[in-house]
Amino acid sequence: MPESIPSMRVAASNVVGTTLREHVLAGMRAAPGATGEFTSLLNHMSLAIRIIHSRVRQAGLADLLGYTGETNVQGEQVQKLDEYANDVLLTVLDKSGHCGVIGSEEVDDAVISSHPGKYVVLFDPLDGSSNIDTNVGIGTIFAVYRRAEPRGVPTVDEALRPGREIVCAGYALYGPSTVFVLSTGHGVHGFTLDPAIGEFFLSSPDIRCPISGSMYSVNEGNHPRWSPEVRRWNAWIKEESKQDGRPYGMRYVGSLVADAHRTLLKGGIFAYPSDRKSPDGKLRLLYEANPMAYLFEQAGGAATNGVDRILDIQPTKLHQRTPLVLGSKSDVGAYRQFVTNERTE
Ligand code: AMP
Ligand code: AHG
Ligand code: MN
Ligand code: MN
Repeated sequence: MPESIPSMRVAASNVVGTTLREHVLAGMRAAPGATGEFTSLLNHMSLAIRIIHSRVRQAGLADLLGYTGETNVQGEQVQKLDEYANDVLLTVLDKSGHCGVIGSEEVDDAVISSHPGKYVVLFDPLDGSSNIDTNVGIGTIFAVYRRAEPRGVPTVDEALRPGREIVCAGYALYGPSTVFVLSTGHGVHGFTLDPAIGEFFLSSPDIRCPISGSMYSVNEGNHPRWSPEVRRWNAWIKEESKQDGRPYGMRYVGSLVADAHRTLLKGGIFAYPSDRKSPDGKLRLLYEANPMAYLFEQAGGAATNGVDRILDIQPTKLHQRTPLVLGSKSDVGAYRQFVTNERTE
């Protein structure tokens, strides 16, 4: 009997990077008792995002820019890409059979899937709509919850869960490249799409939000409507102080996904405070603030409404708004000191 021939082992090499599929599969293997439904849900989300990516890239040519002429529940004019992205996500997620309830920024009420599954998915299908026709970064944001009664009859109220119960959140940023940033509760990982083959490859493993930063991101045009406390913070962050790196640089894109992504990677602070025009803030709790808050906390950053933790807010309405402050722990902490009058300079 010939000596056993050592089995050929493929030498590990980095000729091919880690794909999103492999990353998610590893997560399934590490999850005791996983049936594969969650994995399949994430693969469906990835498919929807790749379909939206493809149309975003063609938007300028395929008469996909501009408005549909309708107004959504937010009272905003609906852009063709808003509607397209919404249709893609609703269709792909409904057909997946993994969602009991689906909530979208573009739909008045949460919808019950025709093939109910064990998850709730909430999303902003196209974030940064005002930037679509100026070719500035836009995105998709989502949050996933496990239903309390996976086999029960789904009800729309199952969408009203506090962000601390999220099991997965992520966003796609359709920028110079399309990146997909994801957390399933084990850190935050970034993937970049290779459009030539339609695969996401791991490009930013274990993203950590720096403990402090040097940039602030706020719409200064709202200054006249801010509270005196927010104005004091705004003046403070622009004062000269060598010892703590002020004045901070100002960056504001006007797409939450773009401003949040930069803040997640570079640190600093993003704020959309409430103001006289938007007394509850402008950004939506369930499909903008909560998923971003989950990701920032998973990456060692912080997310508040100025004072309290975003993830602890108990929602009462699908489209309710909240003030939102995201960023490095120390920068979000300093903001809180101003808005609670613990400090005035
Ligand atoms: P499942 O039975 O596939 O619905 O998974 C049950 C739970 O296990 C999910 O709700 C997740 O919390 C966890 N899990 C399953 N698959 C994965 C995965 N691919 N990555 C991370 N967590 C997972
Ligand atoms: P959406 O396009 O989904 O309605 O979101 C737009 C939001 C968010 O992307 C961004 O942070 C904010 O609007 C910008 O608001 P202002 O233009 O008032 O600064
Ligand atoms: Mn948005
Ligand atoms: Mn939107």
